[in-house]
Amino acid sequence: MIKLSMPEIGNEELEEIKKVLESKNLVQGEKVEQFENLVSEYLNIKYCIAVSSGTAALHLALLALEIKEGDEIIVPDFTFPATANVVELVGAATKLVDIKLDDFCIDTDKIEKYITEKTKAIIAVHEFGQCADMEKINILAKKYNLKIIEDAACALGAAYNGRKAGSLGHIGCFSFHPRKAITTGEGGMIVTDDKELYQSVKALRNHGIKYLNNKIEFTSAGFNYRMTDIQAAMGIVQLKKLESIINNRRNIVKEYEKLLIDEPNIILPKEKIYGKHIYQTYHILLKDEFYRDYIKNKLKDKDIECNIGAYALHEQLYYKEKYKLNMESFVNASFAYKQGLALPLHCQLSREDIMLITDNIKLILNEQ
Ligand SMILES: Cc1ncc(COP(=O)(O)O)c(C=O)c1O
Repeated sequence: MIKLSMPEIGNEELEEIKKVLESKNLVQGEKVEQFENLVSEYLNIKYCIAVSSGTAALHLALLALEIKEGDEIIVPDFTFPATANVVELVGAATKLVDIKLDDFCIDTDKIEKYITEKTKAIIAVHEFGQCADMEKINILAKKYNLKIIEDAACALGAAYNGRKAGSLGHIGCFSFHPRKAITTGEGGMIVTDDKELYQSVKALRNHGIKYLNNKIEFTSAGFNYRMTDIQAAMGIVQLKKLESIINNRRNIVKEYEKLLIDEPNIILPKEKIYGKHIYQTYHILLKDEFYRDYIKNKLKDKDIECNIGAYALHEQLYYKEKYKLNMESFVNASFAYKQGLALPLHCQLSREDIMLITDNIKLILNEQ
């Protein structure tokens, strides 16, 4: 089976994990701090806080920003549901906005009409590893005094006009799930230049603990969202590989483009001039007359694993029942959800694999 995704794990990760196990210091400690410092340096951002998942990162970001019941948060309709679930978990209301099909990110021209006096923040999702149009988002945030949370779960290493994803708003959130460019098994990171946010997040990650006058004080009703030293040891090795993994993925995408560019039944993703796409997912769109799940299953019969890319949230049961949104407001998100197909993308793919995948896609599309 040609897998959709495969983490790049080698002996170095195993060796470093072994050292942590032998040290018997397993919970958040020295390795977590080292990993945080390395990510800070890589992103050129002051504070990094490692956590147990990308979802935990988003949850703590909202809590640190004191988002609560009565607030409204702007969220793109097409994303992984965790982006909006955390808004609901803190008791705020999710205001879904359609996306653009050229980058699968929030349609910045549509945001303003959803802003009310209750709006507190915009969550900018850098979908599939390409930055949302942050210039427009920043203009709106300034105009209406809103916070910007970057959901950069898929975008470690992506850039916008030369600046790295995660450093483009007030607070950025990453995931190290195995489907991301680098992984710690499960894991996440919150990044910010704001010292107060950093201090709140740090306490909330660890049961609300702060050290006041050298004494442990439980200052808020916090969580255990800590990363272990085992995960961080893996993250440190993975981070060293990040740039080469990104280059590798970008080269695979070039191969895909060469082989698929002339296929009239699909629309290929494009890199925006302002950004560096890291292609966490290579997400193509099938023309409307094709039944995506049929194509996906046919590819599976050929031992090629593909999948849907992300979800149109207004169509998911919880959001559908709670908000009863007008389908016509989300035409692009619905189209991407229905017709999008994520193709295999990982560093183990050979040129032959890519040819096999693209040959089969063309064959299946043209036999219908
Ligand atoms: C855009 C987006 N946000 C948040 C998450 C949640 O990250 P995690 O799985 O690490 O909790 C994901 C995971 O796939 C994601 O794609």
